[in-house]
Amino acid sequence: MNTIDVVILAAGKGTRMKSQRPKVLQTLAGRPLLCHVLGTAAQLRARSAVVVTGHGAPEVEASILGGTRARAGFDLKFVRQEPQLGTGHAVQQALPALPGDGTVVVLSGDVPLTQAATLQALVDAAAGGRLALLTVTLPDPAGYGRIVRGDDGAVRRIVEQKDASAAERAITEVYSGIMAVPARHLRGWLARLSNDNAQGEYYLTDVVAMAVADGVPVAAHRIQDALQVAGVNSPLQLAALERAHQLRQAEALMEQGVRLADPARFDLRDDARTGLPAQLVCGQDVEIDVGCIFTGRVEVGEGARIGAYCHIGNARIAAGAVIQPFTHIDGEAAGVQVGEGALVGPFARLRPGAQLGREVHVGNFVEVKNSTLADGAKANHLAYLGDATVGERVNYGAGSITANYDGARKHRTVIEPDVHVGSNCVLVAPVTIGAGGTVGGGSTITKSTPPGALSVSRGRQVSIANWARPVKEK
Ligand code: UD1
Ligand code: CA
Repeated sequence: MNTIDVVILAAGKGTRMKSQRPKVLQTLAGRPLLCHVLGTAAQLRARSAVVVTGHGAPEVEASILGGTRARAGFDLKFVRQEPQLGTGHAVQQALPALPGDGTVVVLSGDVPLTQAATLQALVDAAAGGRLALLTVTLPDPAGYGRIVRGDDGAVRRIVEQKDASAAERAITEVYSGIMAVPARHLRGWLARLSNDNAQGEYYLTDVVAMAVADGVPVAAHRIQDALQVAGVNSPLQLAALERAHQLRQAEALMEQGVRLADPARFDLRDDARTGLPAQLVCGQDVEIDVGCIFTGRVEVGEGARIGAYCHIGNARIAAGAVIQPFTHIDGEAAGVQVGEGALVGPFARLRPGAQLGREVHVGNFVEVKNSTLADGAKANHLAYLGDATVGERVNYGAGSITANYDGARKHRTVIEPDVHVGSNCVLVAPVTIGAGGTVGGGSTITKSTPPGALSVSRGRQVSIANWARPVKEK
């Protein structure tokens, strides 16, 4: 039985974000900051998590409980801290919800990029009843609590920036805000906290000196990677963490052989609509040009190429397909499939349920929704295919649309194999265009057509010879 219980501090206001939204709900890679932290807790196989909320508590709680993923794996509780009297006071509120026999890992809801392996190492450092602090050395430690060590090198206490002497402020080893502490010690220490300090707050960091006084060993687990303990306080910091996170994702893909034209211009995010986690799976020799955004789960097959500035969400793109620049693909829950060797874009839009077979061409300003295009079908210019079944080798002309919606219900259009639909046609669903048939340009088709026929529905062309245009009277 795992005995890790996580406390996530998330009551603070986040004034510097200057946002209506609580800070821990701001998103990084499409996922709320707090969900990143809960995800890490799940990877750590924590047995429970207690989130301390305050500012925007109802919104924070509703948002987390609304998303199923964040709750997975452990017992999740919320406790409210009103008013917010400091980090020690915050953990005090969590105490009644915490089992007394475990190791408590204290995390911040606004520190999203900590890795589970780092926390596991911290928990290991707390084994045998120790207090373990996650620390990092920063070139500019301003604002952080400093790790004060004795002459023997052992940690004596943490001093907050505002309470520190000039000599203490020169210390560059800082407390990350993350600690692992045996629950059985925590109760007593928290009861003894005072707010006799520069900020008049109950500091969680004061437990360090108490541990030393009680003869409880204090371990500092020092890491090099400052990104893992970086917090978000402002839009600038949020954007900086976003870029750093995206760069790491880009580098991981490049290590697998994916060729990104520029790892600094690549984004892979959770899908906001479906809540699907970000996952880009690429075959060999995939090339991705600059400025592409991937959301949710996207698979790109061997040798496929993605042009510049495409937005691709929840889709499977088969081997050898080419997605030209500025294409928007959003599969949402239904997904989108692009077949082998297909050519899509530039400026194409594939919506949920678009399924393109092999060698299909979907060109500029063509929108496809909930439609199947069989192998070799082409819609190259300015067209709409919604709720349609399109057969092999169909050629669908510029400006043609399926009128799939009668104002109340959606209806299907079936275009059988080898049909040619001319330009500027309206296919009023439900309707079937028989195999091998041709629809004359400009036709509005309201009745199904027989196979092999030319179907035309438009005013017959007449020419009036030598027709004199009206002239203006002088
Ligand atoms: C805290 C640490 C500091 C450390 C720094 C790392 C204390 C006293 N200081 O300082 O040593 O270097 O984090 O970032 O712990 N919160 C509550 N309730 C409160 C106060 C804060 O839930 O009453 C939450 C905040 O929302 C935030 C976290 O606790 O998620 C840290 O609070 P913050 O005010 O940012 O602490 P710092 O002053 O940065
Ligand atoms: Ca902080």
